[in-house]
Amino acid sequence: MKAAITATGKFLPQEILSNKDLEKMIDTNDEWIRTRTGISERRILRDPDKATSYLCTGVAQQILEKRGIPASEIDLIIVATMTPDMFFPSTACLVQRNIEAMNAWAFDLSGACSGFLYALNTGAQFIAAGTHRKVLVIGGEKMSSIIDYTDRNTCVLFGDGAAGVLLEPACDDNHGLLDARLHADGRGGDHLYMRGGGSLHPATHDTVSQGLHFLYQDGKQVFKAAVTQMADIAAEVMEGNGLTSDDISYLIPHQANNRIIQATAERMGLPKEKVAINIDRYGNTSAATVPLCIAELDEAGLLKPDDNLILVSFGAGYTWGGIYLKWQ
Ligand code: UT7
Repeated sequence: MKAAITATGKFLPQEILSNKDLEKMIDTNDEWIRTRTGISERRILRDPDKATSYLCTGVAQQILEKRGIPASEIDLIIVATMTPDMFFPSTACLVQRNIEAMNAWAFDLSGACSGFLYALNTGAQFIAAGTHRKVLVIGGEKMSSIIDYTDRNTCVLFGDGAAGVLLEPACDDNHGLLDARLHADGRGGDHLYMRGGGSLHPATHDTVSQGLHFLYQDGKQVFKAAVTQMADIAAEVMEGNGLTSDDISYLIPHQANNRIIQATAERMGLPKEKVAINIDRYGNTSAATVPLCIAELDEAGLLKPDDNLILVSFGAGYTWGGIYLKWQ
């Protein structure tokens, strides 16, 4: 049995942090940020009492409402995040409590920017096995909680947000999630990480003063790997499924840098109308970028039955992957 997306949802904090705002905080400028990354603004969840579970709960509520089902029908909740509210309980359990999905089990998945693709394929396995009928898969991040707003190399890139989908059995075997090719290469771990707060460097005055609780990225190294792997995986999914550029309705790529997205689209031979882009408005929301694109296309009524969608991502780990979905 195949798993299909039957509802989508998104939830973004109201507050906008624009490039102009950043100009007042650090030595940067709007032109550099837009031309090097494609980002104009991002959303920030400023309220210190709200975190990733708040955003993901908003997504779950919207999905339930759109699908018109009670929370009691949900069998499983998977939240892909690298900014959980806390180590435990999981953010997924917090969402489960908030929406009162008392028949669901729930867990978080750590796949960084590829977390949503990892989670989508994981959720689909439970549908395929026939053991679950309704699985919520959400990608959500409060990236602002791990960003050093004095570091111009990273603080211009990231934003907060969440989005997700409901997976259910597809109408037939030719619809839904048709192929998933997921990869990891742990040798990339030295280029994108957050050292502090785990069991290796638990929080101390020293870890705080050394800035170990902030995201670190070697932008150039990650860029090189991302450009290659995103384009390669897109080509791998196309070839593996006998798809030409004409067959593809939308490429839905991770939104880390518009230059990486354009290189991927070029390799696939896709015109810009077929490439989902919202990095200009939200920046890099890590696990939330791909579902945010899906939810926006869905809201705009642009996804039609039989549309072929290619999802691709690349992130810390390294992790990367591609998924081929036929909309139903
Ligand atoms: O989502 C997970 C995966 N992540 C990615 O895929 C991100 C991959 N990396 C990137 O997207 C890019 O490497 C960045 C956007 C992070 C950086 O772009 P870049 O073209 O690689 O710039 P760079 O790091 O080579 O820096 C070029 C110049 C440097 O100045 P010098 O040394 O040439 O004088 C930087 O100091 O730009 C400077 N710079 C800035 N200038 C203004 C770096 N950050 C900024 C800034 N504003 N915010």
